[in-house]
Amino acid sequence: MFPTGPSNLHSKSNEVDLECPNQIKVTGANKGIGFAIVRALCKQLDNGIVYLTARNEERGREAVARLNQEGLQPKFHQLDVTDRASVSQLRDFLHKTHGGLDILVNNAGVYHDEESSLPLGEKASVTMAINFDAALDISRALIPLIRAHGRIVNVSSLIGVWAFQKMTKELQGRFQGAKTEQEVEQLMHEFVTLAKAGSHAREGWPEMVYGISKMGVIALTRIQADDIAKDKTKGDVLLTCCCPGYVATDMTNCQGQKTIDEGAVTPVYCALLPPGSSQFNGKMFSEKKLVEFW
Ligand SMILES: NC(=O)c1ccc[n+]([C@@H]2O[C@H](COP(=O)([O-])OP(=O)(O)OC[C@H]3O[C@@H](n4cnc5c(N)ncnc54)[C@H](OP(=O)(O)O)[C@@H]3O)[C@@H](O)[C@H]2O)c1
Repeated sequence: MFPTGPSNLHSKSNEVDLECPNQIKVTGANKGIGFAIVRALCKQLDNGIVYLTARNEERGREAVARLNQEGLQPKFHQLDVTDRASVSQLRDFLHKTHGGLDILVNNAGVYHDEESSLPLGEKASVTMAINFDAALDISRALIPLIRAHGRIVNVSSLIGVWAFQKMTKELQGRFQGAKTEQEVEQLMHEFVTLAKAGSHAREGWPEMVYGISKMGVIALTRIQADDIAKDKTKGDVLLTCCCPGYVATDMTNCQGQKTIDEGAVTPVYCALLPPGSSQFNGKMFSEKKLVEFW
């Protein structure tokens, strides 16, 4: 079963308007929340070029065809987020064809539930590769293409916050103290190694593979946002992460309470934060509100 997460988080209201960028890419968008994010961005950005990407070309093109039937015109590009050659091809294509990128939504993700027959170490390795390592690889490849006023959104989860709350204070301190991508990467790989050896619990890690991968994304978001803020060539670029809520998709065996379009609301809100929103750089959102937990 997909865990539904903590409910005791402090949130703050955040009223802002939308703006109109023109070159957008969403990963893992052939179905589920990613598909609905593409649908919403196509509708809200009349003049925008929106790329629906998917690892499987047939599934991706079918998804585009479904949106075409609704009168929407997303473009397709293949992208397997775990395949570095595929990431490089997309980067080169975007650079050559559009000279840059305005919005990047890192949505692709996996969840292996407790009933999965995979051993924990294997589950940790596969989950981390897609949910964390791939998000890092994609941001390293594509952030250099992001233009001024660009927006980068990492789709994370409140389960990541929950995993953080269940760690030892010492581990929490290591996440809070991490100042570089490499430090977070090291924490993630340490968890995978310990999970494979069966000693993660002894070292203070909760048995929450998915949550830890999403906590890694939250920590990464803060660090990359700080780096962007220091880079004078990246005027008004914002990097945020969010939880879409509990959504009825294949990931949750359709048990979630929200429709995919409802699940897309907060990621799209983050993708369209207007100029003058620098206070939100590096932050996490849920239900279009800030999540503060450390
Ligand atoms: N559903 C929820 O309640 C919920 C709650 C919190 C956070 N989230 C997060 O929201 C995001 C979307 O989840 P969802 O519920 O929409 O899941 P989903 O329906 O299972 O869709 C996941 C998407 O990711 C793609 N994907 C997986 N591995 C990939 C890879 N290596 N390369 C490219 N694409 C890949 C899948 O493609 P294939 O079809 O080819 O497998 C699919 O398009 C995930 O990051 C998830 O962790 C979901």
